[in-house]
Amino acid sequence: MARKRIALIGGGQIGGVLAQLIAQKELADVVLFDIVEDMPQGKTLDIAEASRIDGFDIKLKGTNEYKDIEGSDLVIITAGLPRKPGMSRDDLLTTNAKIMKSVAEGVKEFAPDSIVIIISNPLDAMVTLFQKVSGIPHSRVMGQAGVLDSSRFSTFISWELDISVKDVNAMVLGGHGDTMVPLVRYANVNGVPVMELLERKYGDAAKAKEVMEAMVKHTKMAGGEVVKLLKTGSAFYSPAASAIAMAKAILNDENRVLPTCAFLQGEFGVDGYYVGVPAVLGSEGVVRILELSLNEEEKSSLDNSINAVKNLVEDMERLGF
Ligand code: APR
Repeated sequence: MARKRIALIGGGQIGGVLAQLIAQKELADVVLFDIVEDMPQGKTLDIAEASRIDGFDIKLKGTNEYKDIEGSDLVIITAGLPRKPGMSRDDLLTTNAKIMKSVAEGVKEFAPDSIVIIISNPLDAMVTLFQKVSGIPHSRVMGQAGVLDSSRFSTFISWELDISVKDVNAMVLGGHGDTMVPLVRYANVNGVPVMELLERKYGDAAKAKEVMEAMVKHTKMAGGEVVKLLKTGSAFYSPAASAIAMAKAILNDENRVLPTCAFLQGEFGVDGYYVGVPAVLGSEGVVRILELSLNEEEKSSLDNSINAVKNLVEDMERLGF
């Protein structure tokens, strides 16, 4: 079987960590593309020179030319500016849309048969634009946001309950912005509802609700919290780790259920938009959307989030993209 190849478009903070993680896990050969001259070549050389120590054996290539991504099975896109303190993800729209358009043209020309995961923000709009410009089928174009937002939510729950994060299952749906929807009712520790555990801890339903609300708010603001601390950019270890989980599910045909920014065609009552939902990921990309029942409150939060995504996409179209 031929070795798999992953092309990383954008060799900045997230792109660099992605290259290192792919190498350490021997997930695939790596082509790291960036417009900055010599930088991707420098990063891949540096990672390759750690191979003897870390004990991995894959091919790494840094490049400034799209033709080098030819034959890639998977493309992960991080090209674009990250947030600075005080900025929302949506503030990046115009700059990153220009970049995404050029990236989509490059991928369309040299890796049209690949499966594509987008990380660049504002995520939901960037995925929509990439698909439109590249023409790659919707099932092979998706965005990473939900795996990270869900991991953040799970982390806060594990800290609160003083329980291993490995046993926490929690999911965040909707757009990758302030309107995202952490699913409280479905959050559990090995099947036991988190709300039940909070009520036991505090012996008071009102206090348990208050603690959960604080964790939900923390989850929604978590990206901004990192931006505020880093000052010069946004989170990069956790977004990279999240995309690796998706990449692994796709390359190994795992059919994992991962919250993914996927194209909806009637699911969750949405038609024709990319929104964060539980998706089954396998060798074909998004194999199917896993629908689940939502109560009135959850449904209205998701509708609110979907409206925010629609507004963002309309803003982008008004800007001529
Ligand atoms: N084509 C390819 N790469 C580009 C282009 C382009 N047209 N324009 C810029 N880049 C590259 C930059 O040169 C830089 O190396 O994209 C890289 C982005 O890296 P960082 O600035 O370090 O940003 P990073 O933290 O990796 O985040 C990238 O992911 O989470 C989102 O909001 C974040 O949109 C941002 C993206």
